[in-house]
Amino acid sequence: MDLKDIRRVLILGAGTMGQQIGLLCAFHGYEVVIYDLKQDILDNAYSRIQKRAGKWVLANQFPPEKKEPALRRITMTDNLDKAAEGVDLISESVPEDPEIKGGIFHEFHKRCKEETIFTTNTSSLLPSMFAKKSGRPDRLCALHFHDISITNIVDVMPHADTSPEVTRLVTAFARAIGQIPIVLKRENNGYVFNNMLMALMDSALSMASHGIAPIEEIDRSWMGIMHTLIGPFGIMDSIGLDTVWKVTDYWARQLNYEKAITNAAFVRKYVDEGKLGLKSGEGFYGYPEPAYARPDFISGISLSSEEK
Ligand SMILES: NC(=O)c1ccc[n+]([C@@H]2O[C@H](COP(=O)([O-])OP(=O)(O)OC[C@H]3O[C@@H](n4cnc5c(N)ncnc54)[C@H](O)[C@@H]3O)[C@@H](O)[C@H]2O)c1
Repeated sequence: MDLKDIRRVLILGAGTMGQQIGLLCAFHGYEVVIYDLKQDILDNAYSRIQKRAGKWVLANQFPPEKKEPALRRITMTDNLDKAAEGVDLISESVPEDPEIKGGIFHEFHKRCKEETIFTTNTSSLLPSMFAKKSGRPDRLCALHFHDISITNIVDVMPHADTSPEVTRLVTAFARAIGQIPIVLKRENNGYVFNNMLMALMDSALSMASHGIAPIEEIDRSWMGIMHTLIGPFGIMDSIGLDTVWKVTDYWARQLNYEKAITNAAFVRKYVDEGKLGLKSGEGFYGYPEPAYARPDFISGISLSSEEK
């Protein structure tokens, strides 16, 4: 199989990610079929896809004349047999549960041709957790997207039984849909970026929760030295503190060590007060004008009250 043999892409799950990945593939000339459980989910998803296509054109991500042809390349179905017809590559974005992912892949393993490649967009699971259940472990690997509207960096991550040919083809496919693939040699929780981000958040939370330095000082240190517009606490606010809590709590349970437990409890206090970050208007910072976005933030004019 060559890259040119990939023409028809099946998206599993018409949610937040499935909609974006489907539209992205259609804009790059692929025939796209999107599968989900019910027709009303699909109808709703298609109207969101139409709106998003308009936004991507307005943001100059794609020329306006490509919009209608891209939308015409997308079909939606809740029928397994119809969805599987002539599919060369699957991109899966169903809920983050190895049973659901393995189960739906297995349904399509029974219906798709032998060469069809299976890719998963899982954020936190490892492909090996459902590779066997999929029925074709050698043709399964992760193709993981971040927020498609803000970055075109993707991860390509094989598991131990992925054939090298599949990793090569998925990498080429990622480039064909305008993405920059980061190719891992083997499985790793959180791929590359998320793994580093977790370490940064973990360290920042630990310092704040143990009273080593205030939140603003930690962000100022990172932003001032790395010349970034946002620091670890600003990033956590933009992710959403409910999500940050879920991840830190998960690791606190997995690792059961003091630092992780204190970090989870520290974030939980904000979540319990309804402070979810950017989306709720308040988190570690207040919005829409967070202190870290002020021109004098790094220089220290906005020093903590003890220092004034
Ligand atoms: N949201 C993100 O920012 C993000 C980023 C990268 C990766 N991911 C990963 O992408 C996957 C999907 O996330 P999402 O945010 O799009 O979720 P979502 O909840 O928005 O969408 C999931 C969709 O899957 C459908 N679904 C459920 N069971 C199904 C089945 N058996 N067959 C087909 N469809 C089924 C649901 O009806 C829903 O429409 C997850 O694995 C997540 O970890 C999410």
